[in-house]
Amino acid sequence: MSTPRTPASTPRTPDADWWRDAVVYQVYPRSFADADGDGLGDVEGITSRVPYLASLGVDAVWLSPFFPSPLADGGYDVADYRAVDPRLGTLDDFDAFLHAAHEHDLRVIVDIVPNHTSSAHPWFEAALAAAPGSPERARYVFRDGAGASGELPPSDWVSNFGGSAWTRVPDGQWYLHLFAPEQPDLDWSNPEVRSDFEETLRFWSDRGVDGFRVDVAHGLAKDLSTPYRPSNEHALPLDGSDPLYDRDEVHEIFEGWRRVLDEYDPPRAAVAEAWAPAPRRVLYARPTELGQAFNFDLLEAPFDAEVFRTIISRNTAAADESGASSTWVLSNHDVVRHATRYGLPEGTDTDAWLMTDGTEPALDRERGLRRARAATLLLLALPGSTYVYQGEELGLHEAPAIPHDELQDPKWDRTGHTVKGRDGCRVPIPWTPSGPSFGFGPVAPHLPQPEDFGASSVEAEDGDPGSTLTLYRAALAARARLQRGEELTWVDAETAPASASVVAFDRHDGWRCVMNFGTGPVPLPAGRVLLASGPLGDGELPGETTVWVAPVG
Ligand code: NOJ
Repeated sequence: MSTPRTPASTPRTPDADWWRDAVVYQVYPRSFADADGDGLGDVEGITSRVPYLASLGVDAVWLSPFFPSPLADGGYDVADYRAVDPRLGTLDDFDAFLHAAHEHDLRVIVDIVPNHTSSAHPWFEAALAAAPGSPERARYVFRDGAGASGELPPSDWVSNFGGSAWTRVPDGQWYLHLFAPEQPDLDWSNPEVRSDFEETLRFWSDRGVDGFRVDVAHGLAKDLSTPYRPSNEHALPLDGSDPLYDRDEVHEIFEGWRRVLDEYDPPRAAVAEAWAPAPRRVLYARPTELGQAFNFDLLEAPFDAEVFRTIISRNTAAADESGASSTWVLSNHDVVRHATRYGLPEGTDTDAWLMTDGTEPALDRERGLRRARAATLLLLALPGSTYVYQGEELGLHEAPAIPHDELQDPKWDRTGHTVKGRDGCRVPIPWTPSGPSFGFGPVAPHLPQPEDFGASSVEAEDGDPGSTLTLYRAALAARARLQRGEELTWVDAETAPASASVVAFDRHDGWRCVMNFGTGPVPLPAGRVLLASGPLGDGELPGETTVWVAPVG
């Protein structure tokens, strides 16, 4: 066996299993903190906020892409996988951030985008300059077109951002892009692609990065001989027979990655973004592959006790079977913030709501936040790890009224201006109650913030006993004391407040979590109240509120 590689920076407390029950805070780097005053968040800005991240009590920080990028898709179009975007800093800045994070005992996860590069990546530029059939083109998916003179795309596949998934180049060939045309798909059957990404994993692991988030992990293996695919909306089959997503061949790629990740001590962690049906999603999380896969079930679920209970049962059972740990997520950089989702009438089409600048239907902000706080407290009591998206700890709502000419999401143009996209959750977060960008930086930010953002700033909420920031800090501190093992025991109606709208479970040593999804109060469970997501009534757990209790004594 070879000696494990020694990274440049290491956390203060080495622990190979840290990721199993970690709370991971997602930073969207361009919208977190702007140290150099260009309106764009940067690495130095993140470093300056490491003490804040540590004060929250999270275990790890996941950085969305900070690599050189033309920003056709918020940085998920990477032009160089082993560098820092000069607008965001340098590799030295990154190392300084990593060191600061480790000094505060925070792990660091970086985002790897293997399905596609940017069209500004040197490989793609070389592919365009080379002839059809060349090795340069073989790193991507180039095909001749259909129709008498190749004037039609090779297949009817559609891009996730709207429009055809094929774009034609001047010599007549077409290339595949499951996302924007500026994001050409790589061909993962090409060994050069595989070895290059393994080198990228080593590059960041050598610096001391603790783990990786793997973008579109379910998309790398493709069956290009299948010309027809109904749409992007159909449910993926359970037998891996979709031509583009979740094919069996993909697992061999991640087994190779695991071998690389295991070259390190402790082994590097990884989490797959794999939009596959639950029974197949866990395959990515096998110990021989990435270890974890995002479980987006709750993020997609309505605010409903029965639905939550079913999802939790299914995922905890799947985690037990696969030897992985569950992951729980309510918000990220791709979806409308959960405080807002929960404040809109059930079944609201959020794309349509955004098109009305958030006016129709009306958003009940207080209700949304009350429910979001309750759901978060439930999440943090579950076994496994939880991913928290920047700003949710402030109770931020979506910013729905960004002027059309300031939208950045490629969905806006690709859908002919019918879908605004994801900018509303990517607005820079507020640090201070006032100032040109509410403390994000010294100048106006790259995406405009709502006027009322200051009231939800870190400074405004810090120390306020009723603030969402205080709730997150208290919950994370309590969880750090309480969380261990994977056990979860459902509490039935005899011992929990009897109501179909209540979800109640015990962890170990009598730590009990009870969430009332209904609007009316239910009896408060017996025991010593550790924490509640909102004010409690006399002997009552009010509607849309969660409480943690422990045995008396
Ligand atoms: C998933 C990322 O989360 C999203 O932001 C991005 O647009 C797509 N993958 C394409 O990389």
